[in-house]
Amino acid sequence: MSLISQLDKENIPRHIAFIMDGNGRWAKSRGQHRLFGHSSGVESVKEIIKTSRELGVEYLTMYAFSTENWSRPTDEIEGLMNLLVEAISNEVDEMDAKNVRLLTIGNIKGLPGNCYDSLCQAMERTKNNTALTLVLALNYSARQEILNASMQAHQLMLQSKISPEELTEEIFASLLQTKEIPDPELLIRTSGECRISNFLLWQLSYTELLFTETHWPDFRREAFIDAICKYQKRERRFGMVSEQIKNTNE
Ligand code: FPP
Repeated sequence: MSLISQLDKENIPRHIAFIMDGNGRWAKSRGQHRLFGHSSGVESVKEIIKTSRELGVEYLTMYAFSTENWSRPTDEIEGLMNLLVEAISNEVDEMDAKNVRLLTIGNIKGLPGNCYDSLCQAMERTKNNTALTLVLALNYSARQEILNASMQAHQLMLQSKISPEELTEEIFASLLQTKEIPDPELLIRTSGECRISNFLLWQLSYTELLFTETHWPDFRREAFIDAICKYQKRERRFGMVSEQIKNTNE
C-alpha cells in the first residue's frame, strides 16, 4: 500500500512548522561545501510546498535564518542570502500561479537590502493568494518576538486601552508577528537534534514535536508523508484524559 493512501485525509494538519537542519552535515558527508547543502535544501522546500498543496495543508512555517545564524562565517551568510534572493526570483511566478501566499516573520529590515526588497515584492505580488501560506522565518528570534509583544502590551496599558487584568492570551497572541496564523499542529525538525532553538516559543505550546534523523536536503515527499502519518497516530489530549478525547471525537 502506498504511503499516501495510508493518510487520513480528514486529519491533515492545517499548519506545519519546520526547523530545516542538517544541510551542512549532508554536504560534508558528500565532500561538498556547506552551500551545496543549502541549495539542495531549497529543492526540499519546493517539494514540501508542492506536497502540501496536494494534501491541503494551509500554512507552512520554515525557519530559514535565525538571529543566531549571524554568527556563521561571512561567506556562508552571504551565500544563504543570495540563495534566498535567487529562490524567490525563480519561484515567485510558480507560487503565484499555484495560489501560494508568502509571509515572513522576524526582522526582515535587518537583512541585506536586495533580500528585503525581493521579499517585499514577492509578498505584495502574492498577498491575495489563498490556497497555502508560506511563512519564512528570517532573522527570527522567538524570545525577541515575545519581548516585542510585551512592550506593545505595556504601551496599550500606558495609553489606558487595556488594564493589566484585561491582558488575555488572545490579546497577547494578537501582538505577535503570527497574529493572522493559527498555531502549528505539527513541528518537524530534521537531522537528529531534539531542541526548539528559539523558534515559535509561544505558538508551539500544544504542537506535536517530531524529530527525524533525516537531513533536510533528503527530507522530500515520502519523508514528509511519513511524518504526517506518524502525527496522525498520536493522540492530542490538550490536558484532558484519553476517554474525554474519544468522547469528543465520537
Ligand atoms: C540548517 O542547516 C539550515 C539553515 C540554517 C538554513 C536553511 C535554509 C535553506 C534550506 C534555504 C532557505 C531558502 C528558502 C527559499 C526558504 P545547518 O547549516 O545548520 O546544517 P548543520 O547543522 O548540518 O551544519
